[in-house]
Amino acid sequence: MSAKVAAALETQARFCTALGAPFTGALCRVLAGTVPPASLTGQRLAQWPGEPMTDALPMRLTGALHWLVRSGHAAALAALYPPVPLPDDAALAAVLAALIAEPASDAFIAAFLGSPPQTNEVGRAGALMPGLLCVAAATGLPLALFELGASAGLNLNMDRFACDLGGIAAGDAASAVKVRPSWQGPPPPAATIRVISRQGVDIAPLDAADDAVAQRLMAFIWADQPDRLSRTEAAIALARQYPPPLAQGDAADWLERQVLLADGAATIVYHSIAFQYFPPVSQARIRAHLGALGAAANPARPLAWLRLEMDDPANPAQPAIRLSLWQGGAVQETLLGHAHAHGTFVQWAGL
Ligand SMILES: C[S@@+](CC[C@H](N)C(=O)[O-])C[C@H]1O[C@@H](n2cnc3c(N)ncnc32)[C@H](O)[C@@H]1O
Repeated sequence: MSAKVAAALETQARFCTALGAPFTGALCRVLAGTVPPASLTGQRLAQWPGEPMTDALPMRLTGALHWLVRSGHAAALAALYPPVPLPDDAALAAVLAALIAEPASDAFIAAFLGSPPQTNEVGRAGALMPGLLCVAAATGLPLALFELGASAGLNLNMDRFACDLGGIAAGDAASAVKVRPSWQGPPPPAATIRVISRQGVDIAPLDAADDAVAQRLMAFIWADQPDRLSRTEAAIALARQYPPPLAQGDAADWLERQVLLADGAATIVYHSIAFQYFPPVSQARIRAHLGALGAAANPARPLAWLRLEMDDPANPAQPAIRLSLWQGGAVQETLLGHAHAHGTFVQWAGL
C-alpha cells in the first residue's frame, strides 16, 4: 500500500482508540502492515486515486471486515471481535493475513472499498427529540416533520423510540429503540408529541427494508460499540414496520418543492450532521427558503428549523443543537445546547 494509505490507517487507529473503540483502532493499525501487496485489496489500496482520509478509506476497510464477520464469512476473525478481550496485534495480523489470502474474501473486500460509507445515527435522536419537545411546548400543536439528509430515515421514527431525556420520558416507552443520552443541564420541557406527517429526503436514500443495505449500514458501525449496534438494529426493524417516506434528491430542491405550512400544525424542518455535506448553493437556498416560509408563519401555522450540526465556532468539537422558531413576527433563535456527535451525551441549555 502507498505511504499515504498507511498513514491514513495509522491516523484512524489513533482516532478510534481515543474515541473508545480500541478494537477498531487495532484493526486499522494492524492493517497498515498486513495487507499483501499482490492481493486485490493490496492493489486497490496501492492505486487509490483520491485522498484516503477524505474518502474514509480506513472506514471502508473496517466496514468490509465487519460485514464479513457479521455475515458469518470470517469465523477466525469473528473469534477475535468484541466482546472478547482485545487480541494482541500479532494474533490479529495473522488472522487478517489469512483472510485476505482467501480469494473470495479478498475480492469482496476490494469491491467493498468502491463505495463510500453511509451511516444513519439513531443516537442523534437524543439531541433532536428534546428540540421537538420545545416546539410542541411552545406551539401546543401537532408536528409535521421534514428531514433533510435523512439517509435511511431511521430518525423519522424518533417519536416511536423510547427516549429518556434528562428524566423526561418521550416517545413510546415500550419501543425496542432505547435512546438515553447522558444528560447535563436542566431537563427539556415535558410536552406531548403528536406527529401527523413525516417525510425526508436524501441525495442517496437508503432502503432499510433491503437486507443488503441494512447489513452495510450495520457494518459501518464500529464493532466496539454494542449500544450503537443494538440501537441501529432495533431502529431498522422499526423502519420495516413503519417505513419512513423518503425521496431521492437534493435537500434544497426538495425543500422548495415539498415543504408547505399547514394550519393547525407546527412544521419542523430538521437535519443532523448533514448540512455540511450539502453544496454551498443548496445551503444558501435552504436558509433563504426557510426565511421566506417563516415570514408567512403565525401561531396557527408556525415553522421550526431544528438542527444538530458542527456549526459553533465557540465549540468546534461538538455539534450544536439550534432552533429557529417562526410564529409570526421576528424569528426566535435559540442555541439549545450541544451534544456528542453520536448523541452519547447532551449538554442542554434549553429555551
Ligand atoms: C453524515 S450523513 C447523516 C445522516 C443522518 N442525518 C444522520 O444523522 O445519521 C449525511 C447525509 O447527507 C446526505 N446528503 C449529502 N448531500 C446531500 C444533498 N445535497 N441533499 C440531500 N442529502 C444529502 C448524504 O447522502 C448522507 O445520507
